[in-house]
Amino acid sequence: MAPEAWQSKRVLLAVTGGIAAYKSALLARLLVKAGADVQVLMTAGAHAFIQPLTFQALTGRAVRSDLLDEQAEQGMGHIELARWPDLVIIAPASADVMARAAAGMADDLLTTVLLATRKQVFWVPAMNQAMWSHPLTQRNRTVLAAVPFYTMLDTAEGAQACGETGPGRMLEPEDIMTLISATLSPADSTRLHSGPGPISDGLLSGHRVVITAGPTREYIDPVRFVSNESSGRMGYALAAAAVAAGADVTLISGPVGIPAPDGVHLRSVTSAEQMLQAALMATADGCEIFIAAAAVADYRPARPAGQKLKKQAAAVQLSQLELVENPDVLKSVADSGNAAYLVGFAAETEQLAEHARSKLTRKGIDLIVANDVSRTDIGFNSDFNEVLLIDHQQTQRLERQSKRQLGQNLLLQIVDRWRLKNEDGTSGRGK
Ligand code: PMT
Repeated sequence: MAPEAWQSKRVLLAVTGGIAAYKSALLARLLVKAGADVQVLMTAGAHAFIQPLTFQALTGRAVRSDLLDEQAEQGMGHIELARWPDLVIIAPASADVMARAAAGMADDLLTTVLLATRKQVFWVPAMNQAMWSHPLTQRNRTVLAAVPFYTMLDTAEGAQACGETGPGRMLEPEDIMTLISATLSPADSTRLHSGPGPISDGLLSGHRVVITAGPTREYIDPVRFVSNESSGRMGYALAAAAVAAGADVTLISGPVGIPAPDGVHLRSVTSAEQMLQAALMATADGCEIFIAAAAVADYRPARPAGQKLKKQAAAVQLSQLELVENPDVLKSVADSGNAAYLVGFAAETEQLAEHARSKLTRKGIDLIVANDVSRTDIGFNSDFNEVLLIDHQQTQRLERQSKRQLGQNLLLQIVDRWRLKNEDGTSGRGK
């Protein structure tokens, strides 16, 4: 985390009703420690879980709770409270407050402040897994995520206070700080991890970067498909970093639920074969850097049905599903010779370095980024990742960090190696 990012920042920390409210006390402590000026706002529900005195002691400011509080209104009224912060963090954000905010209501201090503010608002949801996955909560999440100055953080997965297991747990305070500080000051957060230097506009200007991201879908019939859990976040973070570095970026993406970074040429594809065609086309005139972050399905059904299979037929077909191997997108681009520097990812559940190293040579590429996809706190469908960078000379670890940060740090490492290869005129590739 970058402490500079928080120095003198005015943070309105809104705490709503949920057992995770106890974690917000630690979040308040971390914010104050990082140099932020923190004002806590508690909803009526939050009072059932934690005492205002706890936050007052941690922040040195009296907690605000009531909309119609004559005394408080004489000081910082609710409209001034909406103007005061540099950013708002709602942690935990309950299903109830998400619903009221998504409906545009202003029936308590928090929802009123939310309507009155245009500052960055970070939502940190926390609730029971069934409440989180309910279609109405997911609809509210989508509505809120579409507000231009709202950022919706994910939930964590695992054991919940109610005894159930699944998504809906509040992220740990340290992770919340990391994710938010990366959006406040990307250059600062980049400096935290060893690398050649911060991303700057000119780093890749005049150069072409092609990136694959997300999963592919291989259809069995018009409504059933084989796919995987890739969310596209890793590839999209790299694409955003490459745009920030001034590159001309083509992002070839399988079906994902996140918006493409501003400034990329987006090529949306569904299957591995479509991804291959898009990749060959995007690199036909040459590119400096090709990065394959996509999780491409290795196999596809040999004979997809033209019509939806009836339940009985589907049972038979699925038990005897004949598969054929998909083309290898990365290897095909490597074989074409059209990309000056090639980067692959290796998604492994065991013997991370060994398996990744063999992919590096088998695919004839310059660098492989290995991640352990057996872990739930990194890898597939997480906001975080931790990787091993393996090239033909060395292995280097980049510690667990947000994918946004990692996108920048990885890009810096890639650019450094690509430049070196240009200077040397050698790749050491195993072709
Ligand atoms: O999308 P996220 O939720 O953010 O998750 C990120 C990620 C885990 C998907 C990403 O970090 C990652 O590991 N991507 C590669 C996943 C994968 O398919 O790994 P692999 O070991 O099966 O493939 C090795 C490399 O060959 C990859 O660069 C892959 O893109 C490429 N490949 C594989 C098969 C194929 N037919 N064509 C390919 O291009």
